[in-house]
Amino acid sequence: MKLLEDRIKRDGTVLPGEVLKVDNFLNHQVDPQLMFELGAEFKRLFENEGVTRILTVESSGIAPALMAGYQMHVPVVFARKHRSLTLTDDLYTARVYSYTKQVNNDISIDKRFIKPNDKILIIDDFLANGQAVEGMLEIAKAAKVDVVGVGVVIEKRFQKGHQLVLDAGIHLEALASIASLDNNQVVFANSAE
Ligand code: G4P
Ligand code: NA
Ligand code: NA
Repeated sequence: MKLLEDRIKRDGTVLPGEVLKVDNFLNHQVDPQLMFELGAEFKRLFENEGVTRILTVESSGIAPALMAGYQMHVPVVFARKHRSLTLTDDLYTARVYSYTKQVNNDISIDKRFIKPNDKILIIDDFLANGQAVEGMLEIAKAAKVDVVGVGVVIEKRFQKGHQLVLDAGIHLEALASIASLDNNQVVFANSAE
């Protein structure tokens, strides 16, 4: 998506460890107009999949997921990383390891917010090693619902999440796909690949 690639070129910076910092429009400050356009693009890409609900993980997945849900007229559920104060046992839970932060997070979703016949679209800000997506797939499996797509704002195609989603046979769309961050340069992958 050209609008997003241009924004990454303008405002993104590459940090050591192959990390792309985009905190002025996505991960800290959030650009609502850009998020609105990303939502419209997700709708265009997934509108034939019969999506009934969007699933993401707090916190940075929420903005793009919300805009996709707004455009597609479906509810958005974010998995929580911290236990809610209102204790309940009616949760689906999965353990997610973050390579960047080297910590485990248990993500959970209240069983009331996934329904047996749901067709789930997973949305996230980044697809890197795919641990967050894997956790959401685990929850979908436990809930016995179909995952009809994974949409990410930015994928780092050189990390293993991209292949993990394809190997699961799931329709994957990345609005910007990064082939490499070598030498502090952002190189986009050909979107047709
Ligand atoms: P994974 O979910 O694909 O496995 O990602 P990984 O464990 O490698 O990364 C953990 C966190 O770091 C995730 O956010 C992920 O979105 C983010 N991340 C990974 N690569 C990059 C990058 O190049 N740039 C930025 N800005 N973030 C990256 P999180 O822990 O879920 O945090 P948040 O959603 O609360 O922000
Ligand atoms: Na994230
Ligand atoms: Na993040």
